[in-house]
Amino acid sequence: MLNTATRYGAISRTLHWLMALMIVALVLLGLYMTDLPKADPARAQIVALHKAFGVLVLMAWVLRLAWLRISPAPRLPGEFSRPERRLIKGLQGLLYALMFLAPAAGYTLSVAGGHPVSVFGLFDLPRLFGANHALAHLARALHAPLAYALVGVAALHAMGAIKHRLRDRGGATDVLPRML
Ligand code: HEM
Repeated sequence: MLNTATRYGAISRTLHWLMALMIVALVLLGLYMTDLPKADPARAQIVALHKAFGVLVLMAWVLRLAWLRISPAPRLPGEFSRPERRLIKGLQGLLYALMFLAPAAGYTLSVAGGHPVSVFGLFDLPRLFGANHALAHLARALHAPLAYALVGVAALHAMGAIKHRLRDRGGATDVLPRML
């Protein structure tokens, strides 16, 4: 369960891969649903699904940060150069920021637009503010760019892991197995 000095534990690994899967699915759902005509009844259902999974990403984000406090991540191997360490840590920091900001913009555009955010029909998220046209407009303008930035940074992050797997398989900088 716990992370060790050299490996991620089951909780961190589950959160990592579940979030990756949900983020890819959310972008695909987002692109698909916004292309559907507003009158299509499937659109409302898919938007509701998109919102509920987006809320799960936000919840997983909170859990993930809380879990890192309880069980810190393994350190990066000393074999990485200083610039590599800076790049890896910088990308991870950006990922954490975007994994919060993209769904937070989605929540804001819904709530400020006067729409509820239901989680699979089980309960509604509290509305942190009232309807606000200007805020809804701003959040709508930011939501897609933040989502695309998230996918772009995640792709760079994955390319780094794949590069070290191919170049240094089994070596100290081949860190992919620590997350598998
Ligand atoms: C990591 C989480 C999320 C990602 C990656 C994501 C991604 C996207 C994408 C790619 C679109 C299509 C944008 C376009 O092409 O115009 C979209 C639309 C939308 N998303 Fe999200 N989303 C996330 C979370 C959320 C959350 C938490 C909510 C609400 C609670 C939400 C509500 C919406 C709504 C209402 C739209 C339609 C906006 C419109 O009609 O212009 N999203 N999302």
